[in-house]
This record gives sequence, structure tokens and C-alpha cells, in this order.
Amino acid sequence: MIGELAHKILTPAALAYYASGSDDEWTMHANRDAYRRIRFRPRVLRKVGEVDASTEILGVKTTLPIFIAPAALAKLGHPLGEVNLTRGAGETGILQVISSNSSCSLDELAEERREGQELAWQLYVATDRDRAEKTIKKAYNLGMSSIWLTVDAPVGGNRERDTKEKIARDPVRRKIRRLCG
Ligand SMILES: Cc1cc2nc3c(=O)[nH]c(=O)nc-3n(C[C@H](O)[C@H](O)[C@H](O)COP(=O)(O)O)c2cc1C
Repeated sequence: MIGELAHKILTPAALAYYASGSDDEWTMHANRDAYRRIRFRPRVLRKVGEVDASTEILGVKTTLPIFIAPAALAKLGHPLGEVNLTRGAGETGILQVISSNSSCSLDELAEERREGQELAWQLYVATDRDRAEKTIKKAYNLGMSSIWLTVDAPVGGNRERDTKEKIARDPVRRKIRRLCG
């Protein structure tokens, strides 16, 4: 259902970015299969008048044991980009982890948070260590409650759907394709 909606409202480039994985996408499909195997354990004849699923993630209180994972380029999906996520996280009381490659600035998102709302920030360490240090200081000064260091992305994945979409949109290549049938 969500997939269908995404196909209707997103541009092909946005869809390729959000929904594709590396190479032949074996790991992406394996991840999906793994999630499909997870079931909620039904509980019956228990007191459910008041259900409280709140907990803490790295010392930050959250109403549900989930958080918004860092994902880059939210503006591909909506002009307000990550601001929507900050607002949603604030309204529902869950933690947002802002991507290093967020399409909104950290200042903008820090400004958007509500009173008492915690925000966390994800870091890809730049090879230019001075630049990395500068951004870490900035995140600290803006009151990010934690820094989530990504250690498994030394190089970008070979995202073929992304590449094909970029090629399809390139006017020169489009023209060559037309000429060559
Ligand atoms: C479109 C997209 C963009 C992402 N961008 C980032 C990013 O900028 N930084 C990061 O640490 N992880 C990024 N991730 C990885 C996610 O944070 C998350 O770890 C991954 O999607 C696995 O979680 P999932 O199984 O719930 O999708 C991105 C994932 C997707 C699908």
C-alpha cells in the first residue's frame, strides 16, 4: 500500500534513490525477507487498558521502541524535507537521527524542534578530518543528544537503479537513445 502510494507521488529519480539497493539487491531482498519473518506475539486475557511501550534509546526517552533512522535527501520526497520528520518526531515523542547528508541544515532542524525534544545526528567521517571536527563541534553546539557514527560505508554502494535513472534523465544520452532507437 505504501509502496503503491510512493509509485504514484514520487518522481522516478526519488523512487530509485529511496527504494533501491546495491548491485543486484540481494541483501536488500534478504533484509525484507528477514523482516517478514518477524511476528508480534499475541497476548490474551491481559490488562490492556493502559499500554505503555515507552523506553529509552541511548538515554533519550521515546514513546515507542523505534527511532527515525538517518536517511539522506528527504527533499526528494517533499519540499520541506527533514523538517517534516522533526515535526513528526516531536509530535509523537520519538527520536530522530539526522543524516549527515540531510537536505535541510542542522541549524534549520535544531530550530524546528519543540521544547524538550531531543535530536541525534549521524556522522560519516570525512577524509578531511578538520572538516569532520568542525561538523562535530557544530552538532555539539546545537545540542544534538548523541552522534551516531557510521562505520560500514567506506565507499558508496553501486546503486544501479540510481545510475540508470540518472542516465535516463541526461538530455544528451536521451537524444543518443532516440537516434539509435
Ligand atoms: C534512501 C536511504 C537513505 C539512507 N541514508 C542514510 C544516511 O544518510 N546515513 C546513514 O547512516 N544511513 C542511511 N541509510 C541507512 C538507514 O539509516 C538504515 O540503516 C537502513 O535503511 C537499514 O534500516 P531499515 O532496514 O529499517 O531500512 C539510508 C537508507 C535509505 C533507504
